[in-house]
Amino acid sequence: MGCGSATPQKIIINDQLGQRVDTNDEWIQSRTGIGERRIIGESESLVDLATDAALNAVKMANWDVNTIDLIILATSTPEDLFGSAPKIQSNLEASGAVAFDLTAACSGFLFALVTASQYLASGSMKRAVVIGADQLSKWVDWDDRTTCVLFGDGAGAVAIETTGAQNDLIGYDLKTDGKRGGCLNLSQSNVFLDLVEEAKYQKGEFLPIKMEGKEVYKFAVKEVPIILGKLLDKYQIDSESIDWLLLHQANQRILDAVASRFSIPSRKVLSNLKHYGNTSAATIPLMLDEAVRDQRIKSGDLIACSGFGAGLSWGAALFYWHGPY
Ligand code: ACO
Repeated sequence: MGCGSATPQKIIINDQLGQRVDTNDEWIQSRTGIGERRIIGESESLVDLATDAALNAVKMANWDVNTIDLIILATSTPEDLFGSAPKIQSNLEASGAVAFDLTAACSGFLFALVTASQYLASGSMKRAVVIGADQLSKWVDWDDRTTCVLFGDGAGAVAIETTGAQNDLIGYDLKTDGKRGGCLNLSQSNVFLDLVEEAKYQKGEFLPIKMEGKEVYKFAVKEVPIILGKLLDKYQIDSESIDWLLLHQANQRILDAVASRFSIPSRKVLSNLKHYGNTSAATIPLMLDEAVRDQRIKSGDLIACSGFGAGLSWGAALFYWHGPY
């Protein structure tokens, strides 16, 4: 029924990263398609961005906030490890809603969308706001050129409801494989400090993002076409009927590789990597919001969506967009 997004003010262009690590615009653009990214600054916060994204979605849907039943925040970078979603609920003044965080890295938004749709399909809830928001800038090693050039911060959201009419979520599939999880981590440090005599406690802290880029690349270009292909077969949808390919924005080469597997022309492949880089759980709703507001995506369009990332986790969904415009 609505979508929204919010991004930090501060833009860091590729050449600026060259002040910090041995990299340049040509390398980053040609390998990834990324031209710049936005980074949360001192006067901003992830919760504020997520709140703004959610509010924009709720406004587009024309909902009274008191009618929201559920808020799911997909994030791997909460401000509070106990959960940041209730703070967003309070900011929205959506006092009737239950709000919780969900973590599935870059697949998080898709996992949260499917989770919310289960509450709606069961009839126990009617209206949900699903947010994808991440601040990977705080967990990137800014001296590691192999990862720091890829990521940015941002937030996006959708407002979904049951109408009793046609189900716009045609189908979905979600997968994880923890055995392959070691190629992309934001893991805890294993530092133990003395507590009392003969007892230690584990200090709570995390290490910067660690990624084997080539492995993640191979995983994405293999698994995304498989999961999406199976979904299209299951629902007997020809790839020519897809209006938009909406993939997690990790690397333009991944988008192009997946599109070519389904012979989807580049005009149907949504990409805003150039401006935001990989904003993790935020990429899909951020891209959706941009393309809805500039009226590329029109009501009734069929969207093939796939997210993938750490876990390893991946998923796909086929849905119609039925917003107000
Ligand atoms: N600037 C300049 N040179 C660089 C940079 C940089 N920023 N980074 C690496 N290089 C160098 C390397 O050191 C290497 O040099 P060498 O040949 O002298 O050793 C050379 O460039 C090639 O490096 P590769 O790692 O082989 O580059 P590749 O073509 O594989 O591209 C990339 C790397 C862009 C990371 C790619 O592997 C990729 O996109 N992988 C997928 C990453 C991804 O999608 N991650 C997000 C998943 S979502 C989530 O859950 C967070």
